[in-house]
Amino acid sequence: MSSPVYPQHIIARKRDGGVLTPAEIEAFVRGATDGSWADYQLTALLMAIFLRGMTPEETTGLTTAMMRSGTVADLSFLPQPKADKHSTGGVGDKISLHLAPMVAACGVAVPMISGRGLGHTGGTLDKLEAIPGFRVNLSLDEYRAQLAGCGLALIGQTAELAPADKKLYALRDVTATVESIPLICASILAKKLAEGIDVLVLDVKFGRGAFMPDRARARELALALVAVATALGKPTRAVLTAMEQPLGRAVGHALEVAESIDCLRGRGPADTMAVTYALGEQMLVLAGVAATPAEAHRQLAASLTQGTALEKFRQMVRGQGGDVRVVDEPGRLPAARLQVPLPAPRAGMVQGVDARGVALAALRLGAGRTRVSDPIDPAVGVSHLLKVGEPVAAGGALCVIHANDEAALAEARALLAAAIVVGEAPGALPPLVAEIIG
Ligand code: URA
Repeated sequence: MSSPVYPQHIIARKRDGGVLTPAEIEAFVRGATDGSWADYQLTALLMAIFLRGMTPEETTGLTTAMMRSGTVADLSFLPQPKADKHSTGGVGDKISLHLAPMVAACGVAVPMISGRGLGHTGGTLDKLEAIPGFRVNLSLDEYRAQLAGCGLALIGQTAELAPADKKLYALRDVTATVESIPLICASILAKKLAEGIDVLVLDVKFGRGAFMPDRARARELALALVAVATALGKPTRAVLTAMEQPLGRAVGHALEVAESIDCLRGRGPADTMAVTYALGEQMLVLAGVAATPAEAHRQLAASLTQGTALEKFRQMVRGQGGDVRVVDEPGRLPAARLQVPLPAPRAGMVQGVDARGVALAALRLGAGRTRVSDPIDPAVGVSHLLKVGEPVAAGGALCVIHANDEAALAEARALLAAAIVVGEAPGALPPLVAEIIG
C-alpha cells in the first residue's frame, strides 16, 4: 500500500528543488478543488513552484490534473473541426470579437471561453457585455446549444471547467506568484483544453503593454505552452506579437466592439487586421480546412467581403441574448457623456504610443478594474488614436477621450499626453507579427 501524501511533504520536496511525482501533483490539485488543502499550504507550494520551477513533465502533469479538476466538454457532436485562440492579453486587443466569427464562417467551430480584464489589460467578456443584453454566463448545456446553432460561442469560465484554476489563480493574484511559466502554462491550457477543442492558436504578446514585456521571456512562455499542449495531443501554434502601441485606434469596451464591427465590414485598422489574419491563418491550417496560410488568408478575406463573418457575429449576438441592432447601428452601444479631443502639443509625427500609458488612462476613466469584483464603465475609453508614424498638425487630435466624469477626464488627459509622443520621426517598432512557433 502506498503511504499517504501529506501537503507538507510535497511542499518540502519542491522547496528543496525536487521533482514532484504525478500522484503528488494530483494531490495538490485535488486539495485546491475540494478544499482539503488549506490556503497557506496551497500558496506555500505555489511559491515553491514559482522559485524552483517545474520540469516539462511536471508542467504537463499539472496541466492535466487542473484540466480534469472539472468537466472536460465533449463537443464530438459537432461535425466541424473545433479551434480556439487565446491571447496573453494586450491593450485594445479586440481580436477575438471578429476573428471568432471569421473562422466560424470558414467552417471551423469556435468554442471560446474568455476572461475578464484585470489590471491594465482588457478582457473579451467585458467588451461583449457592452452589447446590451449579451449573456456571457451560459451553462454548459446552453454553450453546447449555441455551438450547435451557429458554430460559435463566446462565454465566461463556468464553475464546471477547471475549478482548480479558479482557486489557484485567485491565490496567485494576491501572493506574487503569477509570473511563473509552469503556473501560467497550466492555468491557460487547463481552461482551453477543457473546452473540448481539437486545435489551439496562442497569441503571446511582448512589449510595453504586454503582461510579459520582455520578448525573450514571452518566447520562452510560447515555447512552453506549445510543448505542453502538443504533449497532451492538441496541435498548437503560438504567434509572438508586439504590444508596444495599442492594437487599432480604440481602447474601451463599447468603442472596441464598434471597431470590431468595422473589422467585420472590411474597414479594420491595418495592425489589427494583420494580427487577425496571422492568427486566423494558423487556426484554419491547424484545423485542416486550408492547406497553406495563403489559402487560409483567402478564405478569411472572403468571409469579410461576402458578409458571412458579419452574419456569424449577428447569429452569435442573437443566440446569446444581445441586442442585434448594434451590428447595423453601433450608436446603440453605451456612449460616454464627455467626448473630448486631445490636442497635439506641436506639429510632427507620432513617435511613440505607450500601450501601458493608454491602458492606465482607460483604467482611470473606469474601463478597467483592479479587483475581479470591481464594476466597469463600458462607455469610456479612447478612440481615433493616432498610430506611430502618422503625421499630426499642432493642435490636431491625437485621440478622442470618452469620459463620464470630469476629474477622471483630467487625469486621463495627463496620462495620454505623456503616453503619446510627437516628434520629428517615428520611433523604432519591432515587427508586429514577430514569429510563429510550433
Ligand atoms: N492568464 C491565465 O489564464 N492564467 C495565468 O496564469 C496568466 C494569464
